[in-house]
Amino acid sequence: MTLLGFDALNRPIRLSEEDTQTHRYVIGSSGSGKSKFLEWMIRGALRERQGFCLLDPHGTLYEDVVKYCSHEVFRREIILLDLSRPDWVVGFNPFQKELGSQVDTSVQVDRLMTAVMHAWGTPNTDETPTLARVLSLVFTLMIELDFTLPQAQHLIDYEQKELRTQWIEQLSKTPLIQQEWRNLQQLKRAVWNAAVLFE
Ligand SMILES: Nc1ncnc2c1ncn2[C@@H]1O[C@H](COP(=O)(O)OP(=O)(O)OP(=O)(O)O)[C@@H](O)[C@H]1O
Ligand SMILES: [Mg+2]
Repeated sequence: MTLLGFDALNRPIRLSEEDTQTHRYVIGSSGSGKSKFLEWMIRGALRERQGFCLLDPHGTLYEDVVKYCSHEVFRREIILLDLSRPDWVVGFNPFQKELGSQVDTSVQVDRLMTAVMHAWGTPNTDETPTLARVLSLVFTLMIELDFTLPQAQHLIDYEQKELRTQWIEQLSKTPLIQQEWRNLQQLKRAVWNAAVLFE
């Protein structure tokens, strides 16, 4: 239970665990305390070791939260990602295998595909089955073989057939995907370009 404050009759107003599971929309006039309310919630999440992600294009709330983190010592991982700082680069590879978690590669691939389709502007891959197939092949290989994005370009380059063959051999943990890759490898250039690059 998060204490928000007190009402006019001095009764405590709290947010229950259940309240925090659903979406919230914080509205109020300028200077009425929206940002401080969010900061209060974030402080609670930090203390209670709950995972959260704060995106703050203005940076003032971010700065206040960073100050709080530097004031309190937390035994938890805090990843600060400030894109406005050219001198401070944080490595982030969404294709890294989710180590330690029980997440199956296919589940991780599904999530990545959902994220890509979202950025693409379509809710799912129902109308783009070829794209879905190629993405799942590429993403699975990237995750299984611990690739980064720049390496992925060789995966879809017809000329890199030999390199691909070596990689495909390492996909024994995902035999169905491995077989699909082998099938793709049999394609002639024009068919490959049509099937993989939509040319
Ligand atoms: N619960 C509170 N008790 C006392 N002061 C508060 C409280 N909440 C906010 N304030 C003060 O009110 C001021 C404005 O708060 P805040 O920045 O959170 O407002 P805001 O709604 O985010 O404003 P804006 O619309 O400009 O972003 C701050 O200086 C803050 O210290
Ligand atoms: Mg604000």
